[in-house]
Amino acid sequence: MNFIPYAKQDIDEDDISSVCEVLRSAFLTGGEKVQAFEDALSGYCGAKYCLVVSSGTAALHLCALALLNQNDEVLTTPNSFVSTSNAVLYARAKPKFVDICEDGNINLTLCETELKKNKNIKALFGVHFSGNSLNQEKLKYLKEKYNIKILEDCAHSLGASFKGTKAGSCKNSECSIFSFHPVKHITTGEGGAITTNSKKLYEKMKLLRSHGISPAKSETFWTYDMLYLGFNYRLSDISCALGLSQLKKIETFLEKRRLLAKLYNELFLNTCVKPIYKYTPNSSYHLFVVRVDFRKFNIKKEELLLLLRAKNIGTQVHYNPINKQKYYKELDLGEDYGKEKTPTMDMYNSQAFSLPMYTKLSVEEQKYIVKTILDILQKNQRNA
Ligand SMILES: Cc1ncc(COP(=O)(O)O)c(C=O)c1O
Repeated sequence: MNFIPYAKQDIDEDDISSVCEVLRSAFLTGGEKVQAFEDALSGYCGAKYCLVVSSGTAALHLCALALLNQNDEVLTTPNSFVSTSNAVLYARAKPKFVDICEDGNINLTLCETELKKNKNIKALFGVHFSGNSLNQEKLKYLKEKYNIKILEDCAHSLGASFKGTKAGSCKNSECSIFSFHPVKHITTGEGGAITTNSKKLYEKMKLLRSHGISPAKSETFWTYDMLYLGFNYRLSDISCALGLSQLKKIETFLEKRRLLAKLYNELFLNTCVKPIYKYTPNSSYHLFVVRVDFRKFNIKKEELLLLLRAKNIGTQVHYNPINKQKYYKELDLGEDYGKEKTPTMDMYNSQAFSLPMYTKLSVEEQKYIVKTILDILQKNQRNA
């Protein structure tokens, strides 16, 4: 068996031709592919506005600057890539980590407990972890009752939904962000996007994307005015052409991921390897995360992952808790910070790991992965 990575892009000849077409054209950046990709994304998600940017992290940064004020307190999850809470810090605001549920998503009931206690909490930065949407009804309730701003980190959830509310539609949030890193559902190499229904936020973030400079009028094309301290977070036409071509195939990609998830669920049924949630066609299955109670085995999670790698099976951990990262542990944000207890996250982290999940993964490979894991665990079962 050749090495099976945990994730891999799916690029075909149409994608390559789309990129070559831009390379032969007049504009490599700032051309019509940018607007076309933005229109396609906002149309797909059902949001009014879209801005494509150079990465998911850049998208988070712009949203944080547009939504937050210095020292605002922001509820967020320890179970994400560090970018989610880093964005809060970029805006000189304070991330407050809330424990997760068994499915890896932030616990919205505990969010309410925090909101009741603390009037300085101004926002919630949530992640639809692995592609499994947060409960949109609860987001709506928290937003309305506590008057907070909500950002949906949809880096895992292009194509996911909750009772018909699509990730990225911003029905119950100010903004959503996406990432188009090659491990994600669609890729632009590096890249990201923001969706929003607010014209005001859209216009502000559009300026911030390009140095905070207001575009020149055509009659005075040599002038410009810098209104904010912005960045160059633009995405090129080359990347947008690839994104557009990839987005055309999103439904096929999602279908394949859901089939893979269904089969993993079937193959692990009644075994000691537990998927973090029951199969649902509403998840976009960016990741397929399973849990093993390693207390029942003479093998640690780390040892299992290394043994799997020796057998050509790539895995990953999503995520090592953000609040346990050295930088965060040493961060001094004031009295109540850094002391959050996240026992469910800690237990999850001792048990959970991600299995290969990408469109080109074959049934034969999936069966090999499942059998290899179960064989190793069986050999290392602790006697009762
Ligand atoms: C949940 C989440 N948010 C944000 C990001 C950042 O995206 P990017 O790598 O495009 O900067 C990632 C990327 O892995 C992610 O998984």
